[in-house]
Amino acid sequence: MDNRTNGARRHPGGKQKEERPKTFGEAMRRVGKVIGGFFSRLGYIFKLVWETRPWILFAMLGLAILEGALPVVKALAAAEILNELAAAYSAAKLGQSFDFWLIMRPLIIEFVLIFITSLSTNVDTIVRRIAGELVVHTVKLKIMKKAKNVDMQSFDRPEFYEKLENASREAGNRPIQIIGSTFNVVSTVISMVSFIVILWGLSPAAPFIIAALALPGAIVTFIYRKKVFSFVRMRSKDRRQLAYYSDVVTNKDLAKEVRIFGLSDFFTDKYKGTFKKYFSGLKRLFLGEGAWNTGFAIVSAVVNCLLFLFVAQGVYNGTSQIGDYSLYTGALGSVSGAVRTLVAATATIYEGTLFIDNLISFIKEPQTLISTADEPVMPERHVAHKIEFCDVSFRYPGADHDTIKHFSATINPGDTVVLVGLNGAGKTTLIKLLTRLYDPTDGKIMLDGRDIREYDPTALYKIFGIIFQDFGRYAVSVAENVAMSDTDAPLDMERVKESAKQGNADSFIKDLPDGYETALMRIFEENGTELSVGQWQKLSVARAFYCDSDVLILDEPTASLDAIAEQEIYSQFDSLRKDKTTIFVSHRLSSATVADNILVVENGMLIEQGNHAQLMKLGGKYAELFTTQAKRYMESKDEVEEYENTKGENK
Ligand SMILES: Nc1ncnc2c1ncn2[C@@H]1O[C@H](COP(=O)(O)OP(=O)(O)O)[C@@H](O)[C@H]1O
Ligand SMILES: [Mg+2]
Repeated sequence: MDNRTNGARRHPGGKQKEERPKTFGEAMRRVGKVIGGFFSRLGYIFKLVWETRPWILFAMLGLAILEGALPVVKALAAAEILNELAAAYSAAKLGQSFDFWLIMRPLIIEFVLIFITSLSTNVDTIVRRIAGELVVHTVKLKIMKKAKNVDMQSFDRPEFYEKLENASREAGNRPIQIIGSTFNVVSTVISMVSFIVILWGLSPAAPFIIAALALPGAIVTFIYRKKVFSFVRMRSKDRRQLAYYSDVVTNKDLAKEVRIFGLSDFFTDKYKGTFKKYFSGLKRLFLGEGAWNTGFAIVSAVVNCLLFLFVAQGVYNGTSQIGDYSLYTGALGSVSGAVRTLVAATATIYEGTLFIDNLISFIKEPQTLISTADEPVMPERHVAHKIEFCDVSFRYPGADHDTIKHFSATINPGDTVVLVGLNGAGKTTLIKLLTRLYDPTDGKIMLDGRDIREYDPTALYKIFGIIFQDFGRYAVSVAENVAMSDTDAPLDMERVKESAKQGNADSFIKDLPDGYETALMRIFEENGTELSVGQWQKLSVARAFYCDSDVLILDEPTASLDAIAEQEIYSQFDSLRKDKTTIFVSHRLSSATVADNILVVENGMLIEQGNHAQLMKLGGKYAELFTTQAKRYMESKDEVEEYENTKGENK
């Protein structure tokens, strides 16, 4: 897993230069590591395909052996045919009889081979296409499963995003391409070895000359593949920027701003600029590799011609037969072709395994949010829980200061608690810590007298019903959107309707074209419905009512709602919460007046706590905030009265 640590150490530009090995031993170790890494990644891919369907490997291996043997048998049969034809021709010239069966025998073999070849090529195509889809499916599932378990804090690291992006991009064709190339290597080796054996009859030196000619080309190819890979990896930021710029211009959510502000040209120019930088480097690499390979190809063509001349001379001198000419020149062509295929295929495998490393390192990304207890504890269900923050401090990964500082507070079973504070005070962060999306940097959070880290994380998530400030909007039906908070049980339509009523959403849902079955968001459905922000928020509140949790948490659930809707929702909560522990986050303080306990957060610290009356009496921050808000409300109330008076006068 050296790659991961390397990645972490990389500096922001993403540039990374390996030092040159100083001693021979060091160089050998480096080579050993490269080869070891290559085979372990190749092994991983084989395992992946095996997990998909074992038959894929067997089918591809069988086809590879067949495809390796076919050209050799074919060349031998062709030479035999030519030799017999030449003999028949001479016999006919001399008026002697010739057994036609002698020609027919190799011909029949040739015919059979032609059939097998066309059959195997097509079977091969079918196998590869089907296997390709199946493997992509397996890899996507693996990525989705992994993404489910990835720690929240991983999403705060750009390098993690990079990995995720690379992994899903490589999920496509890379694995099956690598497997395909590996079996190409198998069949090429089979036919190459056979042809070398044949060429031995011509001159033992011939195969070595051919191989020696291919060597420099192979080396150049490998060097350039590695260069291209390093380039692409180093310029990962460029590529992500390219993807981002083109996404901004085509993104549906941003379409409004892009049009009004004319951002399209702005981002297109940025796109062009980044592409120019990225492309110029890549072009240089492509041209370099191409120039070298052209040079080598010319040299090897010249040598090939000389060898052909040598074989022709053999026939001319009478040391070999006509069929031998076709056999040997064919073998020469096949060996040099095979060497080229071998180089290209191994280079593809090599490059592929380098890229697939992204996928492997993403799948192996360690999970830290696991139970610290040997035997994870199951939280008790359907009871009111006691929650304690004990001197909790927290710093986001990569941040330079603590977002939460020495926070201590107790939430008693069944209490309604309101977290109050300005934007950025750390309220949402406290919720994330409580629900164990992040772990505190210092201190601990207790649930029913136990550190929450001892509980089974999945079971722990289940006791919290939480609607985040940036709750999810899903392109599924209205009813499914409401039932999102309890996907363990099958969707219960009565419960959905009841929850929608409690969340004040039921009236607008009834007006939708298909009521509760209306598809939301116009992503997939022609008649998908777009909701307003406030309507979405009502749906999210309904989602909170729907869920079967012990601790209900609502992070600014009413921020986009009008005052009347807000009041109705709070009174609904009042009647519902009974013995549930409820935590509200709000900056509208009207909701706080009925709370059992109000926690006032400022700069990640708890600065005041108590109920409304106590805090008002205290005359601190809460009292100040409350009075400001109330005053603003009172002022507008005056304006309303004034407006109504003038309206009355004008009548
Ligand atoms: N993923 C994150 N990485 C780094 N800093 C973050 C992250 N999320 C929030 N913050 C920072 O933490 C602080 C508190 O944020 P938050 O808890 O969302 O505040 P609140 O909910 O009270 O408005 C803010 O300064 C914010 O910039
Ligand atoms: Mg918040």
